[in-house]
Amino acid sequence: MKLGSVSFDSPLLLAPMSAICHFPFRLLMEELGAGGTVSELISCHGINYGNEKTRQMLRIHPKERNVGIQLFGEDPLAMAKSAAVAQEYGPKFIDINMGCPVRKVVSKGGGSALLKDTKSLAQFFKGMKEAIDIPLTIKIRTGWDHDSINANEVVNIAEGEGVEFVAIHGRTRTQQYKGSANWDLLEEVATQSPLPIIGNGDLHSAPLTQERMKKTNCHALMLGRGPLRDPFIFLTSYLDDPTQSPFSPKDFLEIIFVYLELLRDYSDMERTHLIQMRKMIVWFVAGFDGVSEFRGKLFASKELTEVLDHTQEFLLGLEEKDRGRKKVDLQKPFMMGGHG
Ligand SMILES: Cc1cc2nc3c(=O)[nH]c(=O)nc-3n(C[C@H](O)[C@H](O)[C@H](O)COP(=O)(O)O)c2cc1C
Repeated sequence: MKLGSVSFDSPLLLAPMSAICHFPFRLLMEELGAGGTVSELISCHGINYGNEKTRQMLRIHPKERNVGIQLFGEDPLAMAKSAAVAQEYGPKFIDINMGCPVRKVVSKGGGSALLKDTKSLAQFFKGMKEAIDIPLTIKIRTGWDHDSINANEVVNIAEGEGVEFVAIHGRTRTQQYKGSANWDLLEEVATQSPLPIIGNGDLHSAPLTQERMKKTNCHALMLGRGPLRDPFIFLTSYLDDPTQSPFSPKDFLEIIFVYLELLRDYSDMERTHLIQMRKMIVWFVAGFDGVSEFRGKLFASKELTEVLDHTQEFLLGLEEKDRGRKKVDLQKPFMMGGHG
């Protein structure tokens, strides 16, 4: 499957998520059916200052197949310079974050604030394109607010400067994460667009994803929060009956250990392993019977071995009982803040 000149293994992609989409999670999702992934947003200034932590975020695992690096910033020169550095880490494409609604980013003119100044965009894209030899892509929101929806205009400017594809989170900046993603608008933009459009927003389950896949005009779909509560969502979305997940608690246990191994490749800080594992396990097991008691035990655990013991006990216990039907309440707000 190709979007512009970028090839992916399938049209269901993992959305960029800060503090989540470093290589352990990206590679795990690729191995579980994501057609491609994008890094978390990475500061152009952090890269240019040679900040060690920022440079760490740029790393790509040799087994990753289709990964892009997402950069954020407001200054075209700094963005171009950092893109050239990011390219050296071996991504397939460089993505610009034009959707982050967070005040700290927007007040400086980065993230979704870039949508407000469309006159400067062509030059912005041009500078970045000139700095790299790999494709340039963007991820936007539908507009700044309800009265300034301008996804079509931004897509057209991007096309004029050789951007390969545009991912669109179907909300405005003002909406933040409230209300629902506007899929009618996304479908309309995709129909008119001269560039491939990746639709994004609220595809929280495999049935919802499959339903959208069947009717969409978008060339691909991007899932962010869905894979956190169902790490098998990419695979299940392609099944004849996506409401019946074939994955049992034992499968969850297996991928939790795969994730841990990848995390150990990423960092040798035990504290990072503990924090990251607790966070990820709690998301993965959402909706299983008895999850709140288990969550309490996890957060009381001060050592990784304790976390793993509790997880093993919980998931193998479920496996024995009824193979643990997982019921996630999709109406309940989940992760209502992020950087895009
Ligand atoms: C915790 C979190 C972090 C996010 N970080 C980023 C980011 O770094 N870059 C970006 O473009 N979007 C980011 N987003 C936005 C997602 O990529 C996506 O557009 C949004 O969550 C809507 O899709 P979803 O409903 O499938 O989650 C983030 C979202 C969340 C929830």
